[in-house]
Amino acid sequence: MKKTAIKIKDSLYYIGVSDEDIRTFDIIMKTANGTTYNAYLLKTSEGVVIFDTVKEAFAQEFFDKLESLCSYDEIKYIVMHHLEPDHSGALPELTKRAPQAKIFISPMAQPMLKSISHHRENMEFETVWTNKEITLGEKTIKFLSTPNLHWPETMSSYLVEDKVLFSGDVFGSHYYDNRVFNDLVGDFDYAFKYYYDHIMRPFKTDVLNALRLYKQLDIDLIANLHGPIMRSNPQQYIERYEKWSMPDKSKHGKKVVSIFYVTSYKNTKEMAEAIFDGLETQDSVIANIYDLTALDEQNMLSILEESTGILIGAPTINGDVPKPVWDLLSCMMLIEKKGKFGGCFGSYGWSGEAVDMMNTRLKSLKFRVPLQPKKIKLIPTKTELLECIEYGQEFAEIVNGKMVEMTL
Ligand code: FEO
Repeated sequence: MKKTAIKIKDSLYYIGVSDEDIRTFDIIMKTANGTTYNAYLLKTSEGVVIFDTVKEAFAQEFFDKLESLCSYDEIKYIVMHHLEPDHSGALPELTKRAPQAKIFISPMAQPMLKSISHHRENMEFETVWTNKEITLGEKTIKFLSTPNLHWPETMSSYLVEDKVLFSGDVFGSHYYDNRVFNDLVGDFDYAFKYYYDHIMRPFKTDVLNALRLYKQLDIDLIANLHGPIMRSNPQQYIERYEKWSMPDKSKHGKKVVSIFYVTSYKNTKEMAEAIFDGLETQDSVIANIYDLTALDEQNMLSILEESTGILIGAPTINGDVPKPVWDLLSCMMLIEKKGKFGGCFGSYGWSGEAVDMMNTRLKSLKFRVPLQPKKIKLIPTKTELLECIEYGQEFAEIVNGKMVEMTL
């Protein structure tokens, strides 16, 4: 981005910064084009509003841009849509320089704000939510509760007179281009989708809730927290998020249960096939079965997303869960787990820890785990395979709504 403030509306300025050389963000995200930490400054006849700050390492550039537009004693309000350090890093220093400024945050942000601003016990702040609004001079800011996008404390706001939506991380891209606006920069579609997949996809229900609020607004420009500012056809980004977040209804109303397994001597595979037969006894369930060693991550993700029930089978190897299963479990951070059921099974030779380890992991990921894990020593007998069929049948019934007490 240019190193000077940029006017984006009559009285609204971009005062964010670019992190051009970053290539990995938050450990898991690749950023071939770097990224930006977007922040904004609004001038009114009665004072200035700052929307978000930047990562601490880039604070000087942020303050230089801010000082080019106003003095610190003109700042009346600071709106913080998200307190992750890439946006709140310069906030402690800003509150030192503008101690009179009142901060607006969501209710969930209170403990975090106190923790990051420990040098100022008397800092003035107010919590806000949907339908709350403030005015300063001729400008009105309406607040929107948009939690979990992607932290519990996230919120959005809307500048009424200029029709600007401040969306927080929503509609962000890790994509730096000094031409700033979406109609001028290069093709960032890949970065927009990649960002959605890694940051917003696990929260699809919350995305749809936010979009319901956004769609009530007349939006002329989306001022997000990363990447290009969207002034040309901003509605297209709302439509894309909606398409990606809508529940998949392609399975004719049936619930999908997917079995993932790995096997050493075909014993766990036999269990998987028997459980599959049990699932298949329920007409309202579509059962899938996959050998995990031949699935790549993208396929795992799309299967996990469409499945209401997920069953994982593995033998124990050297006292541990085999790597393909850990790979599957690590994919779970990228999907929404709300409302999903899980279960585990496996054949073992000696100690059989793998099944319990997988079960514990599913529970910690907040899957509903209704049945005790199914463990069989070495080769399943006919009786044990019948038990696997019953296990599959009961799991399918639970996915279909049968009430049971969850295991602890
Ligand atoms: Fe861009 Fe969630 O911080």
